[in-house]
Amino acid sequence: MNVLVVGSGGREHALVWALQRSASVAGVHAAPGNAGIAHTATCHALDPNDPRAVAALARELAVDLVVPAADRQLVNGVADAVRAEGIPAFGPGADGARLEGSKAWMKDVARDAGIPTARHASFGPGEEDAALAFLESMPGLYVVKTDGLAEGKGVFVTEDLAAARDTVRSYLAGDAFGDAGRTLVIEEGMTGPELSLLAVCNGDPYGARPLTPAQDFKRIGDGDTGLNTGGMGAYSPVPIAEGRVDELMGTFVTPTLEHLAGLGIDYRGVLYAGLMFTPDGPKLVEYNVRFGDPEAQVVLPRLETDAGELLMAAARGDDLPELEFSDRACVTVVMATEGYPVSPYRTGDVIEGLAAVEATSDAQVFHAGTAAGTRGELVTAGGRVLAVTAFGSTIDGARRGAYGAVELVTWPGVQYRRDIAADPT
Ligand code: AMP
Ligand code: GLY
Repeated sequence: MNVLVVGSGGREHALVWALQRSASVAGVHAAPGNAGIAHTATCHALDPNDPRAVAALARELAVDLVVPAADRQLVNGVADAVRAEGIPAFGPGADGARLEGSKAWMKDVARDAGIPTARHASFGPGEEDAALAFLESMPGLYVVKTDGLAEGKGVFVTEDLAAARDTVRSYLAGDAFGDAGRTLVIEEGMTGPELSLLAVCNGDPYGARPLTPAQDFKRIGDGDTGLNTGGMGAYSPVPIAEGRVDELMGTFVTPTLEHLAGLGIDYRGVLYAGLMFTPDGPKLVEYNVRFGDPEAQVVLPRLETDAGELLMAAARGDDLPELEFSDRACVTVVMATEGYPVSPYRTGDVIEGLAAVEATSDAQVFHAGTAAGTRGELVTAGGRVLAVTAFGSTIDGARRGAYGAVELVTWPGVQYRRDIAADPT
């Protein structure tokens, strides 16, 4: 089969890489892709968030399967537009993607489906007084989230009430995240290790299969300090999830899929449950409707099942194959540009050292924000630039492999966390 992967990040590079290793896949296209993806797949320029443009390209290329990989594409209805052409799409329609597109709606679904999650309330324009009063009723760790999409950066967690109040005001005024923040969710802060549990779904609430869990590092700074980002690194497997995946599927994923089916939503693609292991047990932090980035860069390399067959079966609503994962551990470290996650980022710097990685290490470099410069050199072109993934017989071995490769790569202002997978939970 021929597959079109839509998007341009490290997750999309990992998807292209996994599909190219699948016996079932003859060719892979990407739109728009990035400089790393262009080494092995045909890239096509287009706006990935435009459903009509993606559907037209899929028809023109006569691909057998489309994988819309990022949140905004799915929220905008890219999967619906592709399916309307009679082409299978791996991803929920706009109806299911609302789980990620509106955190307020996601919380309503969690309540109606009986999913454990933090106490919360949502507020819209003109409700500042009520929002501030609710905020003050929280016990001490304050969480303020944009209702809409904000590339993982719309969540503010603080113990400082004054800072939380300022955040509420700037979100509601549209200053911080435009319309995405004019409705917001205020939540009770939870504490504990986090887990990304991703399930592949085929439309049947009882047919979903869990992928091997991963843990992501959301904050920009070592020791989980500083602003939230899209994700600065990840590892898999995760010791706290050992032997608990079936229980977590039963508590979170299955009741959610049952509830969605009851609303008439045929959910196909990845349902990503962001969980926190609180002192009161596991609770839902958020749902995403696609592979995580950078979780995909550690989960897909461990997948031994044919990725093309798996995604195609889910997209067509067929029974999913048994999933097999490597026993080896995998760690990825994200390298970002100076200033990330506060945009605009510094871009256009020449990336040096990738040839040394290829020559001396087994690490796999997944490109995210890269582009070809005017003389063919590789330059930075986004906030997150590279995700460097390595395998090991242990998490620590994989971590040493990933950092060994990261240290060979540089550009002016490069930043990355030094503590990814240093203390696996
Ligand atoms: P989200 O985009 O909702 O996953 O939030 C991003 C990150 O913010 C999560 O992975 C957590 O680290 C943190 N976060 C979100 N909600 C809460 C909460 N209620 N309590 C503590 N941390 C949270
Ligand atoms: N790594 C978090 C996300 O993909 O949303």
